[in-house]
Amino acid sequence: MTPPTPAPGPGAGGESTIVMTGGTSGFGAITAERLTRTGDTRLILGARRPAPAGEQVPLDLASLDSVRAFAASVRERLGGAGIDALVLNAGVIHPDVTGRTVDGFETTFAVNHLAHYLLLRLLAPALADRATVVLTTSGTHDPATGAGLATPRHADANLLAHPDRDADLDPRPRTAGQHAYTASKLCAVLTARALSGHPGTGRRGFTVIAYDPGQVFGTGLADHLPLPMRTAWSLLGTRVLGRPLRKLKPVLNSRIAAGEALADLTLGRCTPPPHGHAYAALRRGRLTWTAPSTLARSDELARALWDDSARLVGCSTEG
Ligand SMILES: NC(=O)c1ccc[n+]([C@@H]2O[C@H](COP(=O)([O-])OP(=O)(O)OC[C@H]3O[C@@H](n4cnc5c(N)ncnc54)[C@H](OP(=O)(O)O)[C@@H]3O)[C@@H](O)[C@H]2O)c1
Repeated sequence: MTPPTPAPGPGAGGESTIVMTGGTSGFGAITAERLTRTGDTRLILGARRPAPAGEQVPLDLASLDSVRAFAASVRERLGGAGIDALVLNAGVIHPDVTGRTVDGFETTFAVNHLAHYLLLRLLAPALADRATVVLTTSGTHDPATGAGLATPRHADANLLAHPDRDADLDPRPRTAGQHAYTASKLCAVLTARALSGHPGTGRRGFTVIAYDPGQVFGTGLADHLPLPMRTAWSLLGTRVLGRPLRKLKPVLNSRIAAGEALADLTLGRCTPPPHGHAYAALRRGRLTWTAPSTLARSDELARALWDDSARLVGCSTEG
């Protein structure tokens, strides 16, 4: 991944425009609130329901038509003004891989990766020079973190979109569901890598960051999982249990810390990354610049994912 240049960040002079997904709940809601706090930011939130901050424009990432309509609406609202930051934070995890979107793709992969990939491609021409693009990933994409979820075996977009064609698909529904999630998060890092390496990115001075918020209990992420997991997720997110746990495990972060760190990255208000680093991992509430997994560092894989995703969503592979 090419190193991001320390950006002045949106808000450095005059009103800036930020487009974000996943700003209605979890730590993304905290980010959205922080981004609008200064008053000199126009935040456009793609969301399925009313947003707590910013200007809500309807977006259901489980439909590529909805992504296209959202991108068109954003461009119309901007009237030619550039986007200073694009934050692709929405995400889901399902208990298995049986769900399909209206486009016929496996739901977790389609929402977390394919829809965001299409949105990125549609909005890239509207990015301002020196814009920042942040993709929320997860440490679970990396077997070395030992996060306890089934780690990615591959980033083959065609197999992830159609898991029934994957000869090595795990027969255990829960493991297959975890794999879909962690693989989609590997795809986020690889997409950041491919975008970083794109000639236009260097020429226009974009900063591209893959953001790993650590583990953040108490968000809506467990909403589709079985009741015992939802309950544990919610209890561990309470102040009483969360605080002592966070002292023991550096990977655990509060919703506030994770949301503020995402806002800082978006606004360019963090310590610039060391040369060659674009993977920001939140550990003990602090942003650290580290290396993603071995698979996530493959340029070949990043290029293949970019091209396969383009074909799946009906874009040219050239853009
Ligand atoms: N929590 C963690 O431990 C953790 C760790 C690593 C990475 N992450 C990642 O961090 C991001 C935020 O997660 P979170 O934990 O804050 O979970 P969350 O509270 O469930 O937030 C997820 C966000 O994504 C939106 N979203 C989901 N499906 C959507 C769809 N079809 N169309 C439009 N928006 C949709 C949700 O909107 P609605 O309000 O409409 O549902 C919500 O705003 C996700 O990408 C997640 O994978 C989380």
